[in-house]
Amino acid sequence: MQNFDYFNPTHIVFGQDRLNELDKLIPANAKVMVLFGSGSVKRYGTLDKVISGLGDRTVVEFGGIEPNPQFDTLMKAVEIVKAEQVDFLLAVGGGSVMDGTKFVSLAANVESDHSNLLFHGSASVPVDSAVPLGCVATLPATGSEMNSFAVITFNEQKYPMTSPLVFPKFSFLDPGLTQTLPKHQIANGVADAFVHVFEQYMTYPVDAKIQDRFSEGVLQTLIEDGPVTFNDNDNMAARKNFIWSATSALNGIIGVGVPQDWSAHMIGHELTATFDIAHGRTLAIVLPSLMRERKQQKRAKLLQFAERVWHITEGTDEQKIDSAIDKTEAFFNSLEIVTQLSHYGIDEAGIDTVVSKMKKMNLTQLSETGDLTLDIVRKILIAAL
Ligand code: NZQ
Ligand code: ZN
Repeated sequence: MQNFDYFNPTHIVFGQDRLNELDKLIPANAKVMVLFGSGSVKRYGTLDKVISGLGDRTVVEFGGIEPNPQFDTLMKAVEIVKAEQVDFLLAVGGGSVMDGTKFVSLAANVESDHSNLLFHGSASVPVDSAVPLGCVATLPATGSEMNSFAVITFNEQKYPMTSPLVFPKFSFLDPGLTQTLPKHQIANGVADAFVHVFEQYMTYPVDAKIQDRFSEGVLQTLIEDGPVTFNDNDNMAARKNFIWSATSALNGIIGVGVPQDWSAHMIGHELTATFDIAHGRTLAIVLPSLMRERKQQKRAKLLQFAERVWHITEGTDEQKIDSAIDKTEAFFNSLEIVTQLSHYGIDEAGIDTVVSKMKKMNLTQLSETGDLTLDIVRKILIAAL
């Protein structure tokens, strides 16, 4: 196992109908900005419950954060936070709203050149203060509710950013609030969480037993309870397990002390930025093809995955690995996610566009060893056509 530091200060409030506890978690004299998306939280009554949970505090509402949150929209919130001297941010929504709120939190104490905050990749954004934030998560998928990451769209490119200052102070995970999600969003969430585990687990062995077994537990839970949640909107027991799987997949705990490979995300982000395919869906398209291409590099862990997660015991090692990748793709398909790029109207010319945009973004040495070059990315995408 490699050396690591682990720090996660987010207080999780898990369970139904607990929004009245907001009152205990936000300073009594705070001026609160409530940030939300394109209207689901108004339509389904979540916003009313949040406002009531905030009691007598002064509240400023900021709606209209779009999926794949846009820099220009978020800058409008930043201006209001400054003008109104807001001192607490409350994100009510999915990953896009939570990520957007993290950007606002960091940008509000910066005077100029706010887009520069986006260009630090996996290094911490160099600012030393942020407006504190909390979340009411309405979509289980990204793990943003318990991590320090955000992904912001600027000039039609997606930029990951991180800072320890934007760990949410708290996040409410209320399964009841997620029951209004359309089925395809549940599917996207299951795929996103599954691939989050994969990017931290499917590398090379470093004898990290806890991380491996946690990862395998999360994958197995997603395989068991993802489809139940997808097919049965009223099954609360399965939904609770799915929600905690999604949070556990990217709250840092499975990723400590192990090599990580975020290739599927880097390629997927470009598919979203170029063709507007939902984030989770892009990952389900890329992952099977990526694994088939990278069988040699990931042989030991793919075999472990086949045996421990899919319980494949028959056949040669090669057959077990092939079968595990096929089963993973079939799992995504069972959630009505089509894993062929052509289904989304993308052809070879589209793939060339994606590859050239990745070159512009300097994403030319992906994988846990930096050996995944853009000609291999092209091959992976061609195989997914
Ligand atoms: O905008 P509203 O009207 O709220 O509708 C949203 C949106 O259209 C809707 N929705 C959310 N909760 C709902 C609901 N509809 C009905 N009932 C509810 N309870 O769902 C749609 C999608 O929402 P969005 O927030 O965009 O989805 P998701 O949570 O999948 O977030 C995706 C974003 O997160 C980033 C992605 O790149 C993308 O921008 N990611 C963030 C990460 C992180 N912070 O760690 C890691 C991820 O890998 C990912 O890159
Ligand atoms: Zn993701």
